[in-house]
Amino acid sequence: MARLAIIGGTGVYDPSLLTETETLTVATPYGEMTCILGKYGAKEVVFMTRHGADHSIPPHRINYRANIYGLKKLGVGAVIATTAVGSLRREYRPGELVITDQLLDFTKTRAHTFFDGAPLPVAHVDMTEPYCPVLRELLLQAARKLGLPFQERGTYVCTEGPRFETGGEVAMYARLGGDIVGMTNAPECPLAREAEMAYATVSLVTNYGAGISPQPLTHAEVVEAMNENTKNLQRLLQEVLTAYDPAMESPAHHALREYGGFEVVK
Ligand code: HPA
Repeated sequence: MARLAIIGGTGVYDPSLLTETETLTVATPYGEMTCILGKYGAKEVVFMTRHGADHSIPPHRINYRANIYGLKKLGVGAVIATTAVGSLRREYRPGELVITDQLLDFTKTRAHTFFDGAPLPVAHVDMTEPYCPVLRELLLQAARKLGLPFQERGTYVCTEGPRFETGGEVAMYARLGGDIVGMTNAPECPLAREAEMAYATVSLVTNYGAGISPQPLTHAEVVEAMNENTKNLQRLLQEVLTAYDPAMESPAHHALREYGGFEVVK
């Protein structure tokens, strides 16, 4: 029976959905990660805040490998991540949720793989469909049931940050097929695949990207939009937690079959 994990992004720091919570620090070959283990009804759920409980870790300094490895070590089989994003086109409006289905990785400096040479094999994991279709379906059903404003698909462009994009970059990303832009889904999503965990993201559009919006962008604006919409996100997560079946199967669980599976060092 696999546990579900929620990785809370900007504005999602509240594990109050869970009962019987305890804070855990997990040692991994990449450093320690801290998270909360709790219960949602009878289901065991792990909650972690990507930027730290006090939002002190910028996107390019997050220890993505420790976070994902730590979740794997705790027996997590499925990860639902939340992210704040900017919109690259008018059709994706601030306040809408996006059940992301594709990823374009424009990061530059991040430790982005577990397969970084010996003793691990040279491994190339399939990422044709970066987000788990089974988890995406859970998110879609929940968003429909609750009548939330949402987009069924969206291509997430991940930038290095921490600065926001130039107007030229926003125009370029849109031309390349991007719909939304954020700073964290790479390498979080590919690392989850390497670790054979199902992973899906629900992105909240907090603003129009630079150059689409007439005013300069501020982080305060992102946080404010996030706070205004946290209730919707919490309701969605609650619905997904209710629907999640710990026996859920995902193609991601066999992503490394060719290499004998992903081995966790205890
Ligand atoms: N760009 C990058 N990341 C973001 C944005 C943005 O406009 N809004 C929220 N996260």
